[in-house]
Amino acid sequence: MKNYRVLLLGSGGREAALAWKMSQSAYLEKLYIAPGNGGTRQFGENVALSPLDFPAIKEFVLANNVTMVVVGNEDPLVAGIYDYFADDSELASVPVIGPSKGGAQLEGSKDFAKGFMMRHNIPTARYMSVTADNVNEGIAFLRSLEAPYVLKADGLAAGKGVLILPTIEEAEASLREMLGGMFGKSSATVVIEEFLSGIECSVFVLTDGNSYKVLPVAKDYKRIGEGDTGLNTGGMGAVSPVSFADETFMEKVRTRIIEPTLNGLKAENLTYKGFVFLGLINVKGEPMVIEYNVRMGDPETEAVMLRTDGDLIDLFDGVATGTLADRRLAIDPRYAVTVMMVSAGYPGSYEKGKAISGLENVTDSILFHAGTKATENGIVTNGGRVIAVSSYGATKDEALARSFGSIEKIDFEGKYFRRDIGFDLK
Ligand code: AMP
Ligand code: GLY
Repeated sequence: MKNYRVLLLGSGGREAALAWKMSQSAYLEKLYIAPGNGGTRQFGENVALSPLDFPAIKEFVLANNVTMVVVGNEDPLVAGIYDYFADDSELASVPVIGPSKGGAQLEGSKDFAKGFMMRHNIPTARYMSVTADNVNEGIAFLRSLEAPYVLKADGLAAGKGVLILPTIEEAEASLREMLGGMFGKSSATVVIEEFLSGIECSVFVLTDGNSYKVLPVAKDYKRIGEGDTGLNTGGMGAVSPVSFADETFMEKVRTRIIEPTLNGLKAENLTYKGFVFLGLINVKGEPMVIEYNVRMGDPETEAVMLRTDGDLIDLFDGVATGTLADRRLAIDPRYAVTVMMVSAGYPGSYEKGKAISGLENVTDSILFHAGTKATENGIVTNGGRVIAVSSYGATKDEALARSFGSIEKIDFEGKYFRRDIGFDLK
């Protein structure tokens, strides 16, 4: 197999974890991260390119002999970076790890994703899609459901497009506000869903369009406060494995969800060579799909990569060449956790530019920078989520104790983290 010159798109903790894993590959000649962050420089070279500026990416790929593009975040995929490469004679030989624009609709349009699940009999909550033209039918559907009420903006909304309302009055008012432009064009269509009760987990599948491999299962913690209280964030931590995702549960996930999803993509001629992220909920032992994403999760990746026993670029080569079935992927039996250190005030307003000290003293954890920047005076905070502190352990508690011990050694003004990551799992 040839060695690759890889361009990884994105700038978060997820991309830091993907860069860390690729940097260990036997098949890596050169890794660029665009734009990367203050920590990704340990694993490759940061380049100042926007993941959405396709012409600039083309110029960079040609000038630097890039031979593979790995897409970390959803926006370039939904905007069609796969097709941009496939349709350009100068770029067509450079594989893009990610779905085509058609396949990326699984994340780019919740209305599409729900219709897809209906067409392929994939278990998910009952729903109705509503626009300004059928608001009254939407209200009638809402009234037929029981509280709480779930409203989802159809399009991408930076993870903020889902509202869960406790009363019918609030649900009706929010439906009108969403259709009136609460999330701009993204909420011109709103998906109303039945509320499902259960515990969630994240299942990551890598596919070459024919065969697939399942990565370690993880669970993330989205709320800012302990006990899952307060505002939603981009993710405060994650653990892997997930105790309830046992062999019986995963067999149901494979036969009822993964295989029908991949077969459905094929039947609908939607080219898909990349990660499928299944956001699942366990409803009394039965897995149901809450959402699809077309990339890895953040912060799940910062735990999942620790347990991914295999060569990531070898796996990506398998994806690109349709030979994934022949590649090796095993799961490390240890626990892995990640605990996110965030800025005071996040997910509301917060200050940036705070000096970060003590990073060099951490020996028991792997640090994946998220919102950091390298300056002449060292590493400073540059976002709400600052550093994902990831650790292995023989048990969940041992892994967590390592991350908390490492966090003690790191300081910046206003540092905050949740001490209860994994609290709801065995
Ligand atoms: P998302 O922003 O799409 O990840 O959704 C945010 C969260 O809303 C999910 O992680 C779930 O916790 C919750 N959620 C979404 N849909 C449903 C549903 N139908 N029933 C219960 N909870 C839901
Ligand atoms: N952790 C959830 C996500 O990446 O969307």
